[in-house]
Amino acid sequence: MALLELMNISRHYTLGTEVVKALQSITLSIEKGEYIALMGPSGSGKSTLMNVIGCLDTPTEGSYILNKKEVSKMSENELAEIRNKEIGFIFQTFNLIPRSTALDNVALPLVYAGYAKEERNRLASKALENVGLADRMKHKPNELSGGQRQRVAVARALVNNPSIILADEPTGNLDSKTSDEIMYLFDEIHKQGNTIILVTHEEDIARHAHRIVRLKDGLVESDKKNDSIRQVLSSVSE
Ligand SMILES: Nc1ncnc2c1ncn2[C@@H]1O[C@H](COP(=O)(O)OP(=O)(O)OP(=O)(O)O)[C@@H](O)[C@H]1O
Ligand SMILES: [Mg+2]
Repeated sequence: MALLELMNISRHYTLGTEVVKALQSITLSIEKGEYIALMGPSGSGKSTLMNVIGCLDTPTEGSYILNKKEVSKMSENELAEIRNKEIGFIFQTFNLIPRSTALDNVALPLVYAGYAKEERNRLASKALENVGLADRMKHKPNELSGGQRQRVAVARALVNNPSIILADEPTGNLDSKTSDEIMYLFDEIHKQGNTIILVTHEEDIARHAHRIVRLKDGLVESDKKNDSIRQVLSSVSE
């Protein structure tokens, strides 16, 4: 069975008498180890879908099975636990705690997971080393560059060893050189066996992914292997 199985997922928002169909009927199956770019015009439902996949939101209708568990009908507490264990989030705006050091920011998910302090610091240091920030552990977010902040956010997403990494426009606030660095980091994370879903507007960013899913009006418009990646891989193996 796939790591993640969405069947006829819809998400409707009711605002007074108006119903916004942010997701109409999404059916999508994602295997462990996939690297997916989620694309589509503004308002097509990308963030809504990421929120459902990340258990930040529950669908109006449909079934969502993550790691063999039906999550579409879970309570808020159960969802919080799944989020903490299974999902690593990376946002466009980094979402770090301003007053905390890089180390404490990365260690935070481990506080919720119930690790003792020594173990938290050990795992968080390792995660920061893994993203090339061994020498920035004591820096607060405002003492870091944008790219470094996003690396801290990546380390925080990975520290729990989650089943899926979800990144909603992770390079949206970065210049093109820093974006490239973050994308190479994602490539590395993927090579280490992680499953990644990344929202982007940019074809250059999406090229890093192995599969490209395009949404339109809350529906999957296309779902394709990334041919340019396949060429790169086959030329390596020849
Ligand atoms: N909380 C909400 N209440 C009502 N409508 C919402 C809510 N959140 C999103 N929507 C609507 O759902 C649709 C999909 O929104 P969503 O944020 O998923 O789009 P998106 O593809 O992420 O767009 P963007 O590329 O601009 O980030 C939009 O029409 C939006 O206005
Ligand atoms: Mg969005």
